[in-house]
Amino acid sequence: MNKKLNSRYDITKTFSYNKRSWPFERIYDKNEKIKSLLWNYGIETDFFWYKTNLPIWVAAWPLYNERYMKWAAKDWFEVITWKTFRSVHRKAHTSDWKHLWHNILFIPTDQITDKMIWTKLTGSLDYKWKKEDISITNSFGMPSDTIPEWINSIVNIEKFAKENNKQVITSVVWTPKENWTIEDLALDYAFLARTAEFTWSKIIELNFSCPNVNWWEWAIFKDIENSLIIAKNTRRFLHSSDTKLLIKMWYAPEYYYRDFMSQLSNYIDWIVAINTIPMQLVDKDDKQALPWWLVSWTCWKAILNLSLDAVSSLRKAKTSLWEQAKHIKIIWCGWVMDPESFIMHIDAWADFVMCATAALFNPDLPLDIAKFINKNKIKRVII
Ligand SMILES: Cc1cc2nc3c(=O)[nH]c(=O)nc-3n(C[C@H](O)[C@H](O)[C@H](O)COP(=O)(O)O)c2cc1C
Repeated sequence: MNKKLNSRYDITKTFSYNKRSWPFERIYDKNEKIKSLLWNYGIETDFFWYKTNLPIWVAAWPLYNERYMKWAAKDWFEVITWKTFRSVHRKAHTSDWKHLWHNILFIPTDQITDKMIWTKLTGSLDYKWKKEDISITNSFGMPSDTIPEWINSIVNIEKFAKENNKQVITSVVWTPKENWTIEDLALDYAFLARTAEFTWSKIIELNFSCPNVNWWEWAIFKDIENSLIIAKNTRRFLHSSDTKLLIKMWYAPEYYYRDFMSQLSNYIDWIVAINTIPMQLVDKDDKQALPWWLVSWTCWKAILNLSLDAVSSLRKAKTSLWEQAKHIKIIWCGWVMDPESFIMHIDAWADFVMCATAALFNPDLPLDIAKFINKNKIKRVII
């Protein structure tokens, strides 16, 4: 196994072990080096008035404690999203001992196509490809600390971000209880968002597409009426009209995005798309490979085509709504692993680009992109 690939996350161990034990290496601060590479070049844009010339940021997932947030800042990532928080404590999936006891597996990038959603694939702990070609699948179950734990962390990291000129997004999701109505779940989202705002979060992401949980839990975005109730309630609960609301979505066709945006545009600021893709993961003996159930959520090279499609559909939907959706920007995530895929995202008119897999398995990505921009003398402005 290539040890270097595991320096930010040891896939042979559990989520909890990684959360507790990281870092496994010394992390150097790359900010000055990247700044000097971008002195004359870069891709200028602004994130709620925060100016940047390298819009590659971290999406929700790997950043489950303060140490993880700080290393992302050292790797340059200027906008960093917390792993999604809940209103209750939830443990990461653990094994029932019938399956491998860790939470992530590598999958063979070269055997995957974007026609393979829900189909079967063999996962493994070994990886023999280049770091830019890495594909993973995970079954975490969206674990969360308790509210007192995470509000404390938010306060500390918001302070750290202010001192270090970084920005932070707080991601939240509901946790269903028996017999809950849509009003109850909307209240859970609103309560979480207000709690985050109370602890200094200025940018809050409502996760409407959470994988690795029960089916009724993950697909909130698929019901526009419910999504509207949640967004409306959350907006009403927030104290400041300056607090920004983002929505994390999954893949959908253009007509659906158009309906979604037209209904929710008064209550939301931006959209983040897309989340991971479901596949059936087995081990070499054809048995379920990861804890919880056969299906796990996959980030792989082929997600690139789906996310390209999603961004282009979002863009068309936004254009067709013109004034009504003018303020909605699109943050794109889905297989950004090297400078070429980053530029491809920018060329597809994403306003910003985020990564999750690369933040753990290819953390030199911002440095590699900065070198690429410098070498090719790229100078652009995203309006
Ligand atoms: C292990 C893992 C955990 C994730 N957890 C979350 C999460 O808690 N909340 C969320 O909104 N997205 C989560 N995601 C999805 C990512 O934010 C992102 O949408 C997806 O991985 C695609 O980006 P990538 O190809 O750069 O990994 C998770 C992804 C992975 C791989």
